Amino acid sequence: MSEDTIQQRIRELADHINADYRERNPLFIAILNGSFMFAADLFKNLDAAVEISFIKVASYEQFSSTGNVSNLIGLTEPLHNRDVVILEDIIDTGITMEKILEIIKDLDPASIEIVTLLQKPEALKVELNIKYCGFEIPNKFVVGYGLDYDGLGRNFKEILQLKD
Ligand code: IMP
Ligand code: MG
Repeated sequence: MSEDTIQQRIRELADHINADYRERNPLFIAILNGSFMFAADLFKNLDAAVEISFIKVASYEQFSSTGNVSNLIGLTEPLHNRDVVILEDIIDTGITMEKILEIIKDLDPASIEIVTLLQKPEALKVELNIKYCGFEIPNKFVVGYGLDYDGLGRNFKEILQLKD
């Protein structure tokens, strides 16, 4: 996926979000590390009274990848009555997002929506209402534009599929 393709789609997503949140003051909660590039580029195209906070997901076990979210590190803003938009790089099984939603719902926001740059519909294992999705992609591992393989590849401007 080229840089142009990504940036064009991000502008379209931003148009939708701008229209939906025109008179509101949404708080975007971006999930680090992967979402940092997407967050920056999307945010530059938003024109409502938007705020952003970056958080990290802590796991019970250090080396297990998904499904054992124990805590959201860095979430200091009160979410009560806020319009929250959770911002992710990619939703694979959706289990990470499901756990994040559980924790955020407990903090009593006025609304919660999800924006993700990428989604793998074939891999999804839980029911998620993903309001804003950049691209649906096949169930293959991708790197670049913030996404890593073993820590590498986040710096690429494009999104590339790993060789099988
Ligand atoms: P899920 O809980 O299965 O939805 O996994 C979500 C997390 O797994 C994402 O936030 C990424 O960190 C990672 N992930 C899933 N698929 C990919 C991929 O294709 N490339 C890089 N990271 C991925
Ligand atoms: Mg991630």
